[in-house]
Amino acid sequence: MAIRNIREIGDSVLNKVSKEVKEVNKKLLILIDDMLDTMYDAAGVGLAAPQVGILKRVVVIDVSEEGNEPLVLINPVIIETSGEQTGDEGCLSVPGKVGTVTRPNYVKVKAYDVDMQEFTIEGTELLARALTHEIDHLDGELYVDKVIDGLRTVGAPEE
Ligand code: NI
Repeated sequence: MAIRNIREIGDSVLNKVSKEVKEVNKKLLILIDDMLDTMYDAAGVGLAAPQVGILKRVVVIDVSEEGNEPLVLINPVIIETSGEQTGDEGCLSVPGKVGTVTRPNYVKVKAYDVDMQEFTIEGTELLARALTHEIDHLDGELYVDKVIDGLRTVGAPEE
């Protein structure tokens, strides 16, 4: 378990398309553990592997209040969306900024767990936003290209 360096906007790794995971080996399990540590350490609600410089289709999310309900999604694919929500969004790779983004209010996602068993997860509101935001990372897309009124600065930049 370790905290990895989070890549920031301007790093070209964030604009690349990640590769599908073929098998879950020890190295991938360590990556997933590290991604969870890194997300919790940074007080984020989601993290995608390219954000730590690894171009694999792996996402971790935790939108719970207590931060004790980690979700791990391998090769996630959005299979259904409905509705619309418009609200503020941030990204650990874009520190100190937020912007308003419109997302589906409901998404259904197919993914694999660490045993490579397929499952589906449905999310609304914040979870739907997190799922779509993180899956975008796997295709090299950042929310900053979807903001409606430009980025706003929040708080002091963190070291
Ligand atoms: Ni992000």
